[in-house]
Amino acid sequence: MNNPAHQFHVFRGPTELSPALARRVASAAATAVQERGRFRIALSGGSAMLRLAAGFRLLPELNAYWGAWRVYWADERCVAADDPNSNYGAARAEFLDDVPIPADQIFPVDGTLLPEEAARAYEAALRREFAADGDAWPRFDVILLGVGGDGHTASLFPGNPVLTEMVHWAAPVWQSPKPPPTRVTLTLPVLNHARQALFVAMGRDKARVVQKVRAVANGDLLPAQRVHLTAGPCEWFIDEQAAEQPTSESHHE
Ligand code: 6PG
Repeated sequence: MNNPAHQFHVFRGPTELSPALARRVASAAATAVQERGRFRIALSGGSAMLRLAAGFRLLPELNAYWGAWRVYWADERCVAADDPNSNYGAARAEFLDDVPIPADQIFPVDGTLLPEEAARAYEAALRREFAADGDAWPRFDVILLGVGGDGHTASLFPGNPVLTEMVHWAAPVWQSPKPPPTRVTLTLPVLNHARQALFVAMGRDKARVVQKVRAVANGDLLPAQRVHLTAGPCEWFIDEQAAEQPTSESHHE
């Protein structure tokens, strides 16, 4: 029995997955521009952003409505922008510096602050961005997410109390099991209010967590399983290795 809250698109490899992901994001941007005159997206770090950037590079003619993009992050590490671990720095290097998004429409987390202060400042920026909507929670057009072998997504890690945060839109994370240790993350209600949540999972080491998410969820849910949009199913862009039935000896993070 498949979990109706998550739909899976399986691709042979990155050459097929990346352009499909870029087209999906460009299509979401077109709809957002038509309906609201702007496209609000929250990026993750890791391979999800790399695949999206690669997809845009493979489709230089694709109209992504760049001028309407307003870019946020689903999570960020508390490091400086020029640190190789910065999600903002990586996204700039991979594609943001090569596309015509006005600089004042890109809203990085200030990774030089301590997590608490960084989360507060970031949430203030989010509240300014979404104030006119008057909703209790911000509604991103797209949130781009990855998943760890332990089932984390953004910087929502299994067992971390931030998973139950129901007031703040952004929260600090200390002692992340995935280095660097200090981070800021969007909270689960924010992820769940997105119009679209697009997950990317590639490689055999993601097969076990993908299988768990595909199954009907019960018991103690992994963070990625707790992403359950009010707007419709999450869509997963996965490769054939991540789609495999994991064998018993396969290892995961
Ligand atoms: C981060 C990411 C994180 C990432 C997963 C999967 O800042 O670390 O946002 O949530 O998406 O760890 O990363 P990979 O797709 O690179 O394995």
